Amino acid sequence: MENITPEVLVSAEEIRKTNQRLGKEITAFYRHSNCDLIVVGLLRGSFIFTADLVRHINLPMVVDFMTVSSYGNGTESTGDIKIIMDLDESILGKDILLVEDIVDTGNTLSRVFDLLAARQPASIRICSFLDKPSRRQTPIKIDFCGKEIPDEFVVGYGLDYAQHYRNLPYVGVLKI
Ligand code: IMP
Ligand code: MG
Repeated sequence: MENITPEVLVSAEEIRKTNQRLGKEITAFYRHSNCDLIVVGLLRGSFIFTADLVRHINLPMVVDFMTVSSYGNGTESTGDIKIIMDLDESILGKDILLVEDIVDTGNTLSRVFDLLAARQPASIRICSFLDKPSRRQTPIKIDFCGKEIPDEFVVGYGLDYAQHYRNLPYVGVLKI
């Protein structure tokens, strides 16, 4: 499987610049908030992006992670989700920044959003590294977006195909 070299869509250099811009936007947005900030990375896809992003956010914060599994027909999520690993932190009264690798149909993130909203945080905002708007089924507001991409299956920079390719230092298109 890993003999196929994905075609570069977002280079390591563009990733670095994108994270720098997002970090500035996020820092400016929360600078005057009176609430504590919790950055919530959704595993496994956002582990690398979250690690890079937080180093560009110049604010006090707590970082937490959550793993959800989405049920679907295999190629598409339906939005039925199950919590595999929950947050360690209470989010009551906190500012929550949800960090995702990619928003595709939007089904997964909208369910995670509702689930966390029920815990009464002060606010929830969404930061996604990639966005495939042409695939959206559930409308979702991405407050901080890295890059819009066309409807192609991408891997690398945390994104996988059958759990492989997450370690690629760039985002590439996998032509299978
Ligand atoms: P959604 O619920 O359809 O928005 O999809 C959410 C999840 O599907 C993302 O967090 C990714 O883990 C996965 N996903 C969607 N598109 C891609 C892709 O092009 N490559 C790898 N994973 C993807
Ligand atoms: Mg994911």
